[in-house]
Amino acid sequence: MSININVIDENGEERSAEWHEDQTLLEALLANQFPVLATCGGNASCATCHAYIDPEHFASLGERTEAEEDLLDMVDDISNEYSRLSCQTEFTEGMDGATVTLKPGM
Ligand code: FES
Repeated sequence: MSININVIDENGEERSAEWHEDQTLLEALLANQFPVLATCGGNASCATCHAYIDPEHFASLGERTEAEEDLLDMVDDISNEYSRLSCQTEFTEGMDGATVTLKPGM
């Protein structure tokens, strides 16, 4: 199964993206041709995959991992309560219709 999310890219442009249940959010973004750096290859150690989830859908995601929390704390000048590392963000049906904003200048 898959869902559709709206993605606002680093230039502020919005378009729809398909997210399949076997993908992390990062994998879905890359599959939809969004230029996410993901420097560490999805290992929760670079924060270049940082994205903001709209408040309405944020709670549908699972808890952040400890490694994710630690890394988001290290970039607290740009992270907020709705931040996630997309590489650590697992698929959930509850994200259907959500808006995901990529970090500006990603
Ligand atoms: S890809 Fe490096 S933290 Fe997600």
